[in-house]
Amino acid sequence: MNIAVNPELNENSHQTIYLKDYTPPSFEVLSIDLSIQVFDDHTLVHSKLVMQRLTSGDLILCGRDLELLNISLNGNALTPQDYEIDPEQLIIKNAPDQAEFAISVKIHPESNTQLEGLYQAGNLFVTQNEPEGFRKITFFPDRPDILTVFTTRIEADKKYPTLLANGNLVEKGELSDNRHFAVWHDPTKKPSYLFAAVIGDLAVLKDSFTTMEGRHVSLEIYALAQDLPKCHVAMQALKDSMKWDEDVYGRPYDLDNYMIVAVSQFNMGAMENKGLNIFNTVCVLADPEVTTDPAMFYVKSTIAHEYFHNWTGNRITCRDWFQLCLKEGFTVFRDQSFSTTLQSPAVQRIDDVSSLKSVQFAEDAGPLSHPPRPDHFVEINNFYTATVYDKGAEIARMMANLLGPEKFRQGTDEYFRRHDGQAVTVEDLVDSLSDGSGVDLRNFLPWYSQPGTPCVKGRGSYDADAKTYTLTLSQSTAKRHNYPEPQPLPIPVGVALFDKETGEQLTLNSTVLKQSEVAENNIKDGIFVLDQAEQTVVFEQVNAEPVVSLLRNFSAPVLLDFDYSDEDLAFLLEHETNGFNQWQAAQMLLERVLLQDHNPAVYLNAIAKALPQVAKDDALLATRLLDIPSENYLASRIDQEYDPAVVHQKRDAVLNALADRLKDYWADAYQSLPIVEFKDNSVEMGKRAYRNMVLGFAIRAGVEGALDWASEQYDNAVCMTERLGALRHLVWNKANNAQDKLDDFYKRFKHEDLALDQWFAVQAGNPQGSVQVARELMEHPEFDWGTPNRIRSVTGNFSGNPVLVWTTEGMQFYTEIAKRLDQQNPVLGSRILQFLSRWYTLKEPLRSEAKNILQGLKGEVNSTSVCETLNNVLKA
Ligand code: PHE
Ligand code: ZN
Repeated sequence: MNIAVNPELNENSHQTIYLKDYTPPSFEVLSIDLSIQVFDDHTLVHSKLVMQRLTSGDLILCGRDLELLNISLNGNALTPQDYEIDPEQLIIKNAPDQAEFAISVKIHPESNTQLEGLYQAGNLFVTQNEPEGFRKITFFPDRPDILTVFTTRIEADKKYPTLLANGNLVEKGELSDNRHFAVWHDPTKKPSYLFAAVIGDLAVLKDSFTTMEGRHVSLEIYALAQDLPKCHVAMQALKDSMKWDEDVYGRPYDLDNYMIVAVSQFNMGAMENKGLNIFNTVCVLADPEVTTDPAMFYVKSTIAHEYFHNWTGNRITCRDWFQLCLKEGFTVFRDQSFSTTLQSPAVQRIDDVSSLKSVQFAEDAGPLSHPPRPDHFVEINNFYTATVYDKGAEIARMMANLLGPEKFRQGTDEYFRRHDGQAVTVEDLVDSLSDGSGVDLRNFLPWYSQPGTPCVKGRGSYDADAKTYTLTLSQSTAKRHNYPEPQPLPIPVGVALFDKETGEQLTLNSTVLKQSEVAENNIKDGIFVLDQAEQTVVFEQVNAEPVVSLLRNFSAPVLLDFDYSDEDLAFLLEHETNGFNQWQAAQMLLERVLLQDHNPAVYLNAIAKALPQVAKDDALLATRLLDIPSENYLASRIDQEYDPAVVHQKRDAVLNALADRLKDYWADAYQSLPIVEFKDNSVEMGKRAYRNMVLGFAIRAGVEGALDWASEQYDNAVCMTERLGALRHLVWNKANNAQDKLDDFYKRFKHEDLALDQWFAVQAGNPQGSVQVARELMEHPEFDWGTPNRIRSVTGNFSGNPVLVWTTEGMQFYTEIAKRLDQQNPVLGSRILQFLSRWYTLKEPLRSEAKNILQGLKGEVNSTSVCETLNNVLKA
């Protein structure tokens, strides 16, 4: 945002932008007529902008990497004396109150490797404008609080029959020189980051949906002809999402068509452009033969996510990019809620929390920590983070849970009623939820502006004579660089008491709650809102000694440090009433074993007891119960003297002990789960996941013939989940035939990009692998530096092995990639550099070496994205 020019430049002379400097625009844009003419070696963009003064001030148009051909204002050609221009913007002082611009620029999508603005990907031209790509297409006040009506004419050679833009097709026709054109008009006002255009040769899958208002909507998914059969899952998910948003939020779709385009070169998952979503192929194509179950699930939830943005993001958008979590946090919460209808709520919650803890908690514990609504940034692209998305979703969830479904709906109704068509702030959302529901939630606002994961500490004691249970909880958050002293936040803590003897849950309703220092409505429906530094609650009429269960359903995004005994946690693993809470107890036990050297016996006994029954009832949940916290998650809990080898050994030891403990069970369980016909439902998905998990333990336990089972599973697989699961076990366990199977996989799927990504991933993620293996994969003829999915399949999976990452070669591997991508694709380069962000926790001499390597990158990189990340990482 070129809102206020701040003189403060960082060492790379990149400007820092502050939330406090936000100023409303001095001009609005009444309409834009855009014409895009695509040629093989350049593209011409002509625009007509009708602008109208709102307040005093300069007229500012953003523009980057544009060749300005001509510009006129109210019919008069402008000369360079009439404006100021720099690499980022064009400024007109003393502009008239009504300003009509005609601007022509030349751009080069054919050589745009950054995948922002308009770029060519293979035979396809697509746009990516969030957050600031539109300024690479033409001069425009490219900020989300400028909403306008777009009319778009696209012209190209007929070798590109597909010409798409947002809204309705109003005209199309033939031109000379084998060219043609199409004109699209989008009746809804939108910010420039939601503009989209697609030019290519695509096939289309069509369907339709009738909204609750009776609107007949044409649904279209565009993909390469060979991929069209893989679009049915996405289409069904789209229809389900449309229905869900009507049922749950009362939100119907508002245009006559909804288009989705699949592109294989894309930096992120997908983009919610108004009526014309653009999707990374990995988030839209799904076919059991080439797509694993989790990947297929991800397709459905991403379709939902982008669709839900139509209301939370598009119709109501962000005032400025600091408010990103207004649309992202809320929309993630919405897509998570939708996904709960596709699998058991317990497993959905486990998956969301598991990723929150391993990614967001880790981010918040390191030098890239920032609040869900940051108050400054250098490069906004660096803030599409787990904190903005997933912690943002947790904040929405806390408020929704406190209100309950009915009041939350009143709150969201009020939000849509007040702000439809506007660009707003996080405060506007919380005000609407509060006023609509009649419950003041404004005390939740500090969650948006304070970084760091709060830690809730606690203790409890039972008084058998008085029959009271006294619970004392306190909270603290570590201070973070650049942010004020942390304040206590309202932390909803889900509480239940269980009878230690019988294991039965004690109904809190029948207990009288006597509270000291706690407001009347602070504890209700089993949720206690801790909103001071320390508080005590006394539960009365507790007739038997209880075990307390806390943070049920992960009621708040916090770390919990309660003085449980290991036996209490084992008790909860056995007696808690839902799968999430059982999983949480298992995780807490495991963290004690892995981080505090507790004896694993209690965990092993508890899991051995619980597992067989859970597996019968819900195989997917059983798979999750066997989760052992990842090495990277464990590392995020270690602040100094981190030795990756030690963490790896400890984790391996637990896995081995678990494998041994249930050796006979694994063998039986595997035999009892034959491969059956593929069905896309959560029960069968659970069985497939469990079969893979069990197979891994059987191999680890040395069950005779287990590696042969893996080979057979590979050969007989009816779907990718089975085939890839088996292949991974063979490769990671160095089976004799591992290479044969890898070669077979390669031959089978050579022409399926997304499956081939898995071939790279299995090898890059191999704990028995090496930096050398990863480097060789990046030299493979099928490796492609222009396709982020392929780059991530190596770099992302390799990062799962910190023992390999935290070596001289491993760190150099990542810094070299960041350097290479610095110009070519800085958004991706910055993300890859983030894998090294916790270097400062390493034990010596690795720590010093890491510092040298990172410092060596300084001066070698120039992009705002990579420089900002590098500077922050080095500040640790
Ligand atoms: N707004 C997209 C989403 O969350 C993510 C995205 C951001 C895509 C930036 C591309 C570029 O749905
Ligand atoms: Zn989003």
